[in-house]
This record gives sequence, structure tokens and C-alpha cells, in this order.
Amino acid sequence: MAFQEKKLPANAPASAKALNWIDARFPLTATWKAHLSEYYAPKNFNFWYAFGSLALLVLVIQIVTGIFLVMHYKPDANLAFASVEYIMRDVPWGWLIRYMHSTGASAFFIVVYLHMVRGLLYGSYRKPRELVWLFGVGIFLCLMAEAFFGYLLPWGQMSYWGAQVIVNLFGAIPFIGPDLSLWIRGDYVVSDATLNRFFSFHVIAIPLVLLGLVVAHIVALHEVGSNNPDGIEIKEKTDVNGVPLDGIPFHPFYTVHDIFVVSVFLIVFTAVIFFAPEMGGYFLEYNNFIPADPLKTPPHIAPVWYFTPFYSILRATTSQFMYALEVGVLAYAALLLTKSRLSGFVKMIVLVVAVAALIGMFVLDAKFWGVVLMGVSVMILGGLPWLDHAPVRSIRYRPGFHGYIYLVFGIAFVILGYLGVQPPTPVGTLVAQICTFIYFGFFLLMPWWSRMGQFKPVPDRVTFQPH
Ligand code: HEM
Repeated sequence: MAFQEKKLPANAPASAKALNWIDARFPLTATWKAHLSEYYAPKNFNFWYAFGSLALLVLVIQIVTGIFLVMHYKPDANLAFASVEYIMRDVPWGWLIRYMHSTGASAFFIVVYLHMVRGLLYGSYRKPRELVWLFGVGIFLCLMAEAFFGYLLPWGQMSYWGAQVIVNLFGAIPFIGPDLSLWIRGDYVVSDATLNRFFSFHVIAIPLVLLGLVVAHIVALHEVGSNNPDGIEIKEKTDVNGVPLDGIPFHPFYTVHDIFVVSVFLIVFTAVIFFAPEMGGYFLEYNNFIPADPLKTPPHIAPVWYFTPFYSILRATTSQFMYALEVGVLAYAALLLTKSRLSGFVKMIVLVVAVAALIGMFVLDAKFWGVVLMGVSVMILGGLPWLDHAPVRSIRYRPGFHGYIYLVFGIAFVILGYLGVQPPTPVGTLVAQICTFIYFGFFLLMPWWSRMGQFKPVPDRVTFQPH
């Protein structure tokens, strides 16, 4: 199409002329309309729907404070710890920037976990939003990597030994393990080489991927439109102009809504920064105020709270637990072979995988399977759109017992998280093993339980009380 600029009257305001000039060269107004003023979101959003905007806010906080931290931080094993202390004591407002960044890391996970819970409650991952969800799972993986790499940078005892433990896990992979962990560290132990590469990943590689995924996440969402607490597709009922009858423009209605939630969030966020930045050792661990000492292993090494549910699954995988796992694999394979609608070919694959897994469980040691289970416990989230077979999306119209299943799953996840920060005990390990079964059972048995029970009738239009 030939280049075209709209004709404006000669006396049009300068701002209109400037916008017209830009719009002819870049889709500014079109983008504003498509994603804000003419993006029709369901009118029944509740507070759960603010966590996406909050996650965007925290992302910006992390990037901006990160830029200022990098101005003073030294990625050098001899200087890193002292440079962080220098930021805290000597750089004007350095303490604020650092605490915003460290509190921001935990806030990010709180917000993102709640954002994911919303997806779970309202079935937001289901068709046609599978890609929105998959991009989300990618974001979650990047966030975990970002937090892990960032945690080494202050070069405290916990940074050092946490990284040592996690990188050593790769050593459990058969054949390539020891070489792989050597390759990741760039040395035989965590050292300056490790710090440099983790710095590089933390400040540029992962943030680039993260930003790309966030853009893809929102573009995918805006392509299909938002879900809502009723799980009803609002695009199915539109007026003559194609505008959903139950949709309202995102801007100004939800921008105002989100600004309010952002204000409340910032009050809590600043209160933590000013009054409890360490949060009792959960946000900043006490051991991390001691410089890294490769010759002194702390008695109890625990990851930061947001990793602990997955870490607990790793620790729960003891050699005794392998027997229970073997029974679990056998029972699940039997269930898939006898009680599923899978084709003959897929059933063959199930059989082969089950036999291979059982042989592997006898041959390879529990540490390796712990690493596998930990990895799978995160990746399995990506399978949700295909595991959930309920005829409705939202929890509102599911049978009451589904709510209890979600509750038990949530409690098991929190218990796993709690146990992951505690030193291991025999009782704790047993409880973690039971919770590991509940965690995986929730997902793996979903194709069956999600179809069971009496579903409530889903209304034609979203339920909404004006307020
Ligand atoms: C940096 C992290 C993230 C950012 C900035 C982000 C941003 C957003 C935004 C702005 C929205 C639209 C507003 C809303 O519905 O809340 C959204 C929706 C959504 N996000 Fe995320 N998100 C992030 C992480 C995740 C993760 C980790 C998942 C899941 C694994 C996820 C799954 C979803 C889903 C399913 C929706 C659609 C919800 C619906 O329409 O009901 N997001 N996200």
C-alpha cells in the first residue's frame, strides 16, 4: 500500500499533527486501541485479575533497580561481597535500591504464584488459551533461572553453597553428569568463573528471553481475549459492531482498577522494604550476610522459599521412596492401559516408557530420580490444558469436591514449601513423600477426576453485579 498521511485541517493542534505524523509511520494509535482502549475485557473481572498487571510492575521494578545495582556491583569473587556492602552503606540510596531488588524477587514469585492460582481456578489455561499458558510456564522457568543466577551474585555463604548444591545435582545425570556440572561451573568448584557467567546470564541473557516471553504472553492473550471468573467466552455474544456484549474497554475501566491494586501493593511492598527487608530470613537469609567461604560448609543449606516446594520433592526422593515410586508407575501405567481412551499406538508407547522407567529405577540411583522428579514437577504445569477434561472451565460451575481437590493440592504444595526450608527429619521426609504423591496425583489423575461429579449449569452471560 502506498504511503498515506491523513489530511488534517491547517488549524489542527500541534499534538494532533504530531500524532498523525507518527501514525503514518508507526501504528501507535492502532496499538493503543488494540491493547487498551478497544481491548474488550469481560466486565466481571475480580481482584484475581490484577496480578498480571502487578507482575508487569514488578518486572519493571526489577529491571530498573537492577540497572542501578549493576552500576556499583563488581562481578568478581574477590570484590562482589564488599561491593554489595558498599551499595548498602555508601552509595546514596543504595540500600533502597538493593532492598527493592531483593524484596522484588520474592514479590515477583508471590504475585506470579497468585497469578497462576487464578489460572487454575478459572481454567484460563484451557482452549483457546493454551499458548498463553505455555508462554506463562516458560516465563516461570525463566524466573526460576533468573532468581537462581541472581542469588549467587552477593557471594555470601548461602549464595555460594546454594549454587554448589544445585550445580552438583546435574552430576547425578548418568554418563554426562560430572562433565556437565564442570561445564556449568567452568571450574571444579563454584568460583570466579562461575560468578562471571551467572552474572552474564542474570543481567542480560535471561532478562532478554523473559521480556520476549512476556510480550508473546500478552500478544497471545489479546489474540484470543481474556477468560473471566465464570469461564464464559464473551466473544460468542457480540453487538452489530462485533464488540462483546459483556466486554468493557480495558482502558479506562481496568487501568483504574489496576492502579488502585498497584497502590495497595506498593504500600505493602514499601512496608516490607522499610521494616522487614529480610522477612525473618525468608527474603534475605542470615547466612548470606557472611562472605562466601569455600572451606566452611554451613550446617543447613536451604534455597529461598520460592524454590522450596520443588526442592522438597527432590529431597523426598530417597532410596526407600523409590519402591513407592515404582508401585506408582506400575499403577499409573495399568490405569492408562485399561481406563483411558488412548489409541493402541499410544498405549504401546506408555508400555515401553513404563518398562524403561521401571528398569531405570532399579539401575539408577535415587539422587538422579530426585532431580528428574524436581524437573518434572515444574514442567508438568505445561500439560494442564490437555490434562483437564472437565466440561466447564471455572471452579464456579464444577462439582463441590473439585474445590476440595484444589485445596488438598494447595495445602500439599505449601507443606512441601515449608518442609523445604527446614532441616530434613525422618517425619518431615515421610510427610514430603506423601505430599509429593499428592502433587503428582493431582496432575496425573486429572483426566479422570476432572470429569467426575455433577457439574452446575453455566449461564449464557457472565454474572455481574454493578458496584
Ligand atoms: C513475568 C511474569 C508474568 C507477567 C508479567 C504476566 C502478565 C500477564 C498479564 C498482564 C495478563 C493479563 C491480565 C490478567 O489476566 O491478569 C496475563 C494473563 C494470563 N497469564 Fe500471565 N504473566 C506472567 C506470568 C504468568 C505465568 C507464570 C503463568 C502460568 C504459568 C501465566 C498465565 C496467564 C494466563 C493463563 C493468563 C490469562 C488469564 C485469563 O484470561 O483468565 N502468566 N498475564
